[in-house]
Amino acid sequence: MITMTGITKAFHRGDVNEVLALNNVDLSINDGDFITIIGSNGAGKSTFLNAVAGSFPLDAGRIVLGEDDVTNWPEYKRASLIGRVFQDPLLGTCSGATIEQNLAMAVKRGKRRGLGLGVKPAEREFFREKLAVLGLGLEDRLKTSTGLLSGGQRQALTMLMATLVRPRLLLLDEHTAALDPKTGGMVLDLTAEIVESQNLSALMVTHNMAQAISLGNRLIMFHRGEIVMDIAGEEKRNLKVEDLLLRFSELRGEEGFSDRMLLC
Ligand SMILES: Nc1ncnc2c1ncn2[C@@H]1O[C@H](COP(=O)(O)OP(=O)(O)OP(=O)(O)O)[C@@H](O)[C@H]1O
Ligand SMILES: [Mg+2]
Repeated sequence: MITMTGITKAFHRGDVNEVLALNNVDLSINDGDFITIIGSNGAGKSTFLNAVAGSFPLDAGRIVLGEDDVTNWPEYKRASLIGRVFQDPLLGTCSGATIEQNLAMAVKRGKRRGLGLGVKPAEREFFREKLAVLGLGLEDRLKTSTGLLSGGQRQALTMLMATLVRPRLLLLDEHTAALDPKTGGMVLDLTAEIVESQNLSALMVTHNMAQAISLGNRLIMFHRGEIVMDIAGEEKRNLKVEDLLLRFSELRGEEGFSDRMLLC
């Protein structure tokens, strides 16, 4: 069980530009929950994932991953429990290092000691097996520099790296958005397969509503730093894109209403 309670984060506090990016957000994640996250631009989705990963201190709130209260853990230490894949394929892998060196770093994720990039023969065999599952032929290119790979190959490699050591929680922030539809589909299939086969708990942000509906067992919507929709199981399975569009337009309607209130 993973619990996030009262997560609050404002940027530029006390300034005219103050933004309350997360407003007292509560979320409990059951082991094995695969949650898709939707919401309009600036709703707080990425900030929420960054808050969980420890990219900045919270203004308020607690984050407990299983038996570990990680609220005051620095980002590098949380990385031992949290796997991440970002939108930008360049962020997940180190361009100057080879595929096997990147995988060796992934094995050592979150550990302070032994950050050397040496790869032992047994480890190499393990990497080869894992890469073969991707079906991209990367198992024969262990000594290729990651900088030479395509965006899709890098994202598939990043998915593998994020889950090589089983994470307590996997965070995916629009990780297929920068890829062409075919490659994005491949990375998405891979995501579903890895999450399912390892029974991972995962949070996946997407702007694609059909994806948000078809993947995972639970869907949440952010709006202005709050969770305004949280549905699971049968209700999620019956959900249609039109239902989500309707909810979006209702929320926009509220904004229109408050704008009018301001004019009065
Ligand atoms: N580092 C930062 N400094 C200042 N403001 C920030 C920072 N990060 C996010 N914000 C602001 O916080 C709000 C939430 O941003 P966030 O990136 O979480 O939105 P999002 O839901 O991920 O949107 P998108 O769908 O566009 O990625 C926005 O108003 C944004 O401008
Ligand atoms: Mg975002």
